[in-house]
Amino acid sequence: MRVDKFLHAMRIGTRTQVRRLIKDGHIMTNGEPVISGKQQINPGSDAVFLDDEQVRYQQYFYYVMNKPVGVITATSDATAKTVMDLFNATDYRDDLFPVGRLDKDTEGVLVITNDGALSHALLAPAHHVTKVYEAEVTGEITADQVAGFNDGITLKDGTQLQPAQAEIVEFHEIEDFTTIRIMIHEGKYHQVKRMVGTLGERVVQLRRIKFGSLELPVGLLAGNYRTLTDDELVALKTAADQPVAE
Ligand code: URA
Repeated sequence: MRVDKFLHAMRIGTRTQVRRLIKDGHIMTNGEPVISGKQQINPGSDAVFLDDEQVRYQQYFYYVMNKPVGVITATSDATAKTVMDLFNATDYRDDLFPVGRLDKDTEGVLVITNDGALSHALLAPAHHVTKVYEAEVTGEITADQVAGFNDGITLKDGTQLQPAQAEIVEFHEIEDFTTIRIMIHEGKYHQVKRMVGTLGERVVQLRRIKFGSLELPVGLLAGNYRTLTDDELVALKTAADQPVAE
C-alpha cells in the first residue's frame, strides 16, 4: 500500500496535509525518512512514524452521529446532501457507511462505520436490536392507545409488526400535540410514522434517542459526530451478538 494512502486512511490528515508532512520530513518508515508518498509499505509489518509517534494500522472505524433533519442516510447522492457530506476531510473514508436508515426528516443517533459484519449483525432481524424514538404527534394520544402497540399491530398495508413499547411523555394542550417515546425491535420502512398513522394521527417531529445500547450522546449537536468510545463499541457489539429466542 502507498504510504500516503496509509496515512490518510489512518486519519493523519487530508491528502494535501499528508503530502506536506512527507515533504517536510515528518514521516519515517523502519527508521528511514519517507521521501515520496508513492513509497510502498506493508501496514501489518512496517513501522511508520509521524515524528515520535507510531501510526498504527486500524482496520475499522466507528462513529456516532447526531443526524440532522434535511440530510439523507446514504453514502452518496446526485443532488441531496448525505450524512457522509458531514464528515471532515480527515475523517472521511470512502468505505464508511451508515448502519441502517433514518428518514430525511428524522434526526438522532446514527452509527457510521466501515465494519460490514457489525452492521449486518446490528440490522439482522433475529437480533431484535432495539431503537428508541421520541416523536411529536398531532393531537392528543392516550396511554391506552399506545398500549395497543404492545400486542404487535398490523399496519394499513397488512404488515404485521412485533410488539413495541410506547409511553406518553407529555400532552401539549395549547399546541395540541403529544410527545411520545416508543421502543421498537425491528426496522420497517417509516415504521414509527406508520404506527402513529394507525391511530389516525401524524408524526411531525421524530428523533432517535437510542440505537441498541447506544444513547444519543449528551452535547452532540445535530450535524456533529464523534468516534465511538471503547466502552460504547463493546456494548454495541454485545447487543449485536445477542440473538433473541422467538
Ligand atoms: N421510523 C420512521 O418512521 N422513520 C424513521 O426515520 C425511523 C423510524
